[in-house]
Amino acid sequence: MSISLTHYSEQHLDALNQFYLPEEQAKFTSLPHAFETVDKGQYRIVILAGNDAVGFFLLHETERVNSFTDNPNAMLLTSLSINEKDQGKGYALKAMQLLAGFVSSEFPDCNEMVLAVNHKNIAAQKLYSNVGFQDTGRRIDGPIGEQWILNLPIAKG
Ligand SMILES: CC(C)(COP(=O)(O)OP(=O)(O)OC[C@H]1O[C@@H](n2cnc3c(N)ncnc32)[C@H](O)[C@@H]1OP(=O)(O)O)[C@@H](O)C(=O)NCCC(=O)NCCS
Repeated sequence: MSISLTHYSEQHLDALNQFYLPEEQAKFTSLPHAFETVDKGQYRIVILAGNDAVGFFLLHETERVNSFTDNPNAMLLTSLSINEKDQGKGYALKAMQLLAGFVSSEFPDCNEMVLAVNHKNIAAQKLYSNVGFQDTGRRIDGPIGEQWILNLPIAKG
C-alpha cells in the first residue's frame, strides 16, 4: 500500500472522525476530531494509505514550540495517531520516514522537528528512534507523567 502525507481537507473529515484508539493508547495522544478547527500556525497532516485516511498528526509553528527548543526554526509534532484497525502495518513508520521530505518542501524554513513522548509509550519511542529522532535530554511534566523531548534535524529542501 502506498503511504503519503497530505494537508487536511474536508474530504478527510468523516474518516478522521471515526478514528478509534483503545484507552491504553488514547491517553498518549488526542484523536483527530479534537482538531476540527485549529489555530494559526497549526497544520493538520493526514496519513494516507492509497486514498484512505489511516493516520493523523499536527504540526505547530506557534509559541508552544518555544517550550521544547530554543531554535526559532523548529516545528513541533503532536497528536500522532494511526487508527487502531490500521495499526501494525508499518504505516506510522513509513509516515515518519516521509516526514523530513514533506516538511522541507511544505515548510522550507523549518530545520528541526521536535516532539514529546511519554516515558511509558514504548511503541512510540521505538517508532521515533527507528526514523532517527534523538533524545535531547530535555524533560517536561505532562498530565500522565514525564515526557521526553526528542528531535530530528530537517535538511533544507
Ligand atoms: C504509535 C503508533 C502511531 C504506531 O503506529 P503503527 O502504524 O501501528 O506502527 P508501525 O506498524 O509503523 O510500527 C512502527 C514501529 O513502531 C513500533 N511499534 C508499533 N507498535 C508497537 C507495539 N505495539 N509495541 C512495541 N512497538 C511498537 C515498532 O518499533 C515498530 O517497528 P517494528 O515493527 O519494525 O518493530 C500507534 O500505535 C498509535 O497510534 N498509538 C496511539 C497514539 C500514540 O501513542 N501516539 C504517539 C504519541 S507521542
